[in-house]
Amino acid sequence: MKRIVSLASALLLLASVAVAAEPAAKPAAKPAAPQAAPAVAAAPAKPAVSLTSADCVKCHAKAPADVEAKGRAHKTKITCQDCHNGHPPTNRKIIPLCGQCHEGKPHYKLGGCLQCHKNPHQPKEIVFGRDVTDPCLTCHSPQIGQLKGNPSKHTKLACSFCHDVHGKIPQCTQCHKAHSPEQGPGDCKKCHKAHMPKAVTYAADTPSKQCASCHAKAFNMLVASKAKHKSLLCVTCHQEKHKMVPKCQDCHGVPHAAGIMSKFPKCADCHGIAHDLNNWKTGAPAGAADPADAAKKPALKKKK
Ligand code: HEC
Ligand code: HEC
Ligand code: HEC
Ligand code: HEC
Ligand code: HEC
Ligand code: HEC
Ligand code: HEC
Ligand code: HEC
Ligand code: HEC
Ligand code: HEC
Ligand code: HEC
Ligand code: HEC
Repeated sequence: MKRIVSLASALLLLASVAVAAEPAAKPAAKPAAPQAAPAVAAAPAKPAVSLTSADCVKCHAKAPADVEAKGRAHKTKITCQDCHNGHPPTNRKIIPLCGQCHEGKPHYKLGGCLQCHKNPHQPKEIVFGRDVTDPCLTCHSPQIGQLKGNPSKHTKLACSFCHDVHGKIPQCTQCHKAHSPEQGPGDCKKCHKAHMPKAVTYAADTPSKQCASCHAKAFNMLVASKAKHKSLLCVTCHQEKHKMVPKCQDCHGVPHAAGIMSKFPKCADCHGIAHDLNNWKTGAPAGAADPADAAKKPALKKKK
C-alpha cells in the first residue's frame, strides 16, 4: 500500500480491504508492507489488501498520539489491530470489550470499565468521582477492615472522598484544623491513623507539647515542678494508648517499708500527684526526708 493516499481513495480502499491479523507481539509501528491475508475468510474473492497499524495514523490523529504518549502496555504489548479487528465498512463492530483480554481477577468483573479507564488508549489515566468504595476493594482489603473494625465518622466516607486521585494520600489538614497552632500537617500521624482515627496511639518519643495542645494544665504543672518527673515525657508514663494512666509501682516497685505502706497505701498520701511531686506544703517537716519519720508524723500534705 502506498504511504500517501487521498482520503477518498483510502476510503474506497477501506471498502474492499481485508485486514491482516497482526501477531500481538509485533511492534505497532512496523512498516506497512503489502501482504496477503489468507487467514481472513470474509472477502475471499477480492484481491486482499492489508491495513496495518502503521496506516491508522494516516487518517486518525488522536488515538495514535494518545497511545504514543501514554499507551503503556496497550502500546508495548499489543497493537491497534489486536483491539480493532478489521475496519468499517467491511467490519462495523471493531470496538473491543476489555473482557476479551482481561479476565480472571475480581477487578475484571466490575462493570463500566470505561467509567474509570476513560481512555482505552491511555489505560492508566484513571478518573473517578468522590463516591467510590466497592471497586477499590477489588484490590485493597486491609483498609475496609480497619474502617469497619473501628467505627468512626470516617467509616461512613467513601474511599475516594479522601483519595480523590488514585494513589494520592491526602493530608488531614485538608479537612481538619490542627489542635493547636504549633502542630503541622505531619504531626497528625503521631497519634492518629486515617482508617481508625479514634483509636489514638502514640510512639515513645512523642514530644510533650503535642499533648499540651489539649492538656495545658498538666503540661504547665509538670514544667513548673522541681521534682525529677519534670524531665520525663508525658508518654514515658502515659504509654502508647490515649488515656492510659500508670501506677507509681509500675516504675518504682515497693519503695518503702511494708509497715509504712500498709498505713499509707496511697503514694499520693505523701507525694502528691505525679505532675507535681513532693510539693510539700510549707511546714512540711524537714525530717520527712526519712519515710519512716513521715510514717510517724504524716505531716506531708496531701496534694490534689
Ligand atoms: C484511510 C483513512 C483511514 C485509515 C487508514 C484508518 N481509518 Fe479508521 N476510520 C476512518 C474513517 C473515515 C472512520 C469512520 C468510519 C465510519 O464511521 O463508518 C474510521 C473509524 C474508525 C474507528 C471507529 C469505529 C467505530 O465503530 O466507531 C476505529 C476504532 C478505527 N477507525 C480504527 C482504525 C485503525 C485501528 C486503523 C489502522 C489499522 C484505522 N482505523 C485506519 C478512516 C481510516
Ligand atoms: C486495548 C485496546 C485498544 C487498543 C490497543 C487501541 N484501541 Fe482504539 N479504541 C479502543 C476502545 C475500547 C475504543 C472505544 C472507546 C470509547 O468508546 O470511548 C477505541 C476507540 C478508537 C477510535 C474511535 C474513537 C476515537 O478516539 O477517535 C479510534 C479511531 C481508535 N480507537 C483508533 C485506534 C488506533 C489508531 C490505535 C493504535 C494506535 C488504537 N485505537 C489502539 C480500544 C483500543
Ligand atoms: C486485545 C487485548 C486487550 C484488550 C481488548 C484490552 N487490553 Fe488492557 N492490556 C492488554 C495487555 C496484553 C496488557 C498487559 C498485561 C500484562 O502485562 O500483564 C494490558 C494492560 C492493561 C492495563 C495496565 C496498563 C499498564 O501499562 O500497566 C490496564 C489498566 C488495562 N489493560 C485496561 C484495559 C481496559 C480498561 C480495557 C478495555 C477498554 C482493556 N484493557 C482492553 C490487552 C488488552
Ligand atoms: C472505579 C474505577 C475503576 C473501574 C470501574 C475499573 N477500574 Fe481497572 N483500575 C482502576 C484502578 C484505580 C486501577 C489501579 C491502577 C494502578 O495500579 O495504578 C485499575 C487497574 C486496572 C488494570 C491494571 C492492573 C491489574 O490489576 O491488572 C486493569 C487491567 C484494569 N484495571 C482493567 C479493568 C477492567 C477490565 C475493568 C472493567 C471490568 C475495570 N478495570 C474497571 C479503577 C477502575
Ligand atoms: C486494580 C487494582 C486496584 C484498584 C481497583 C485500586 N487500586 Fe489503589 N493501588 C493499586 C496498586 C497496585 C497500588 C500501588 C502499589 C502499592 O504501592 O501498594 C495502589 C496504590 C494505592 C494507594 C497508595 C498507597 C501508598 O502506599 O502510597 C492508595 C491510597 C490507593 N491505591 C487507593 C485506592 C482507592 C481509594 C481505590 C478506589 C478508588 C483504589 N486504590 C483502587 C491497585 C488498585
Ligand atoms: C478520611 C480519609 C480517608 C478515607 C475515607 C480512606 N482513606 Fe485511605 N488513607 C488516608 C490517609 C490520610 C492515608 C495515609 C496513612 C495514614 O495517615 O494513616 C491513607 C492510606 C491508604 C493506603 C496506603 C496504605 C495504608 O493502609 O496506609 C491505602 C491503600 C488506602 N488508604 C486505601 C483506602 C481505601 C481502599 C479506602 C476505603 C475503604 C480508604 N483508603 C479510605 C485517608 C483516607
Ligand atoms: C477529605 C476530608 C478528610 C480528610 C482528608 C480527613 N478527614 Fe477526618 N473527618 C472528615 C469528615 C467529613 C469527618 C466527619 C465530621 C463530622 O461529621 O463532624 C471526619 C471526622 C474525623 C474525626 C472524628 C471521628 C469521629 O467518629 O468522631 C477524627 C478524629 C478525624 N476525622 C481525624 C482525621 C485525621 C487524623 C485525618 C488524617 C489522617 C483525617 N481525619 C483526614 C473528613 C476528612
Ligand atoms: C498528641 C496526640 C495527637 C496529635 C499529634 C493529634 N491529635 Fe487529633 N486527637 C487526639 C486525641 C487524644 C483526640 C481525642 C480527644 C477526645 O477524646 O475528645 C483527638 C481528636 C481529633 C479529632 C476529633 C475531635 C475534634 O477535635 O474535632 C480530629 C478531627 C483530630 N483529632 C484531628 C487531628 C489533626 C488534623 C491533627 C494534626 C494536625 C491531630 N489531630 C493531631 C490526639 C492527637
Ligand atoms: C485533642 C485533644 C487531646 C490531645 C491532643 C490529648 N488528649 Fe488526653 N484527653 C483529652 C480528652 C478530651 C480527655 C478526656 C478528659 C476527661 O474525660 O475529662 C483526655 C484524657 C486524658 C487522660 C486521662 C485519662 C483518665 O482516665 O482520666 C490522660 C492520662 C491523657 N489524656 C493523656 C494524654 C497524653 C499523654 C497526650 C499526648 C500524647 C494526650 N492526652 C493528648 C484530649 C486530648
Ligand atoms: C514511667 C515510670 C514512672 C512512673 C509511672 C512514676 N515514676 Fe516516679 N520517677 C520515675 C523516674 C524515671 C524518676 C527519676 C529517677 C532518677 O532520676 O533518679 C522518678 C522519680 C520519682 C521520685 C523522686 C523525685 C525527685 O525529684 O527526687 C519520686 C518521689 C517519685 N518518682 C514518685 C512517684 C510517684 C508517687 C508516682 C506515682 C504517682 C511515680 N513516681 C510514677 C519514673 C516514674
Ligand atoms: C511520671 C509519670 C507521669 C508523667 C511524666 C506525666 N504523667 Fe500524667 N499522670 C500520671 C499519673 C500517675 C496520673 C494519675 C494521677 C496521679 O496519681 O498523679 C496522671 C494523670 C494525668 C491526667 C488525668 C488527671 C489530670 O491531672 O487531669 C492527665 C490528663 C495527664 N496525666 C496528662 C499528662 C500530660 C499531658 C503529661 C505531660 C505534660 C503528663 N501527664 C505527664 C503520671 C505521669
Ligand atoms: C508516708 C509517706 C509516704 C508514702 C505513703 C510514700 N512515700 Fe515515697 N517517700 C516519702 C518520703 C518522705 C521520701 C523521701 C523524700 C526525699 O528524699 O525528698 C520518699 C521517697 C520516695 C522516692 C525517692 C527515693 C529515692 O531514692 O530518691 C520514691 C521513688 C518514692 N518515694 C516512691 C513512692 C511510691 C511509689 C509510693 C507509693 C507506693 C510512696 N513513695 C509512698 C514518703 C512517702
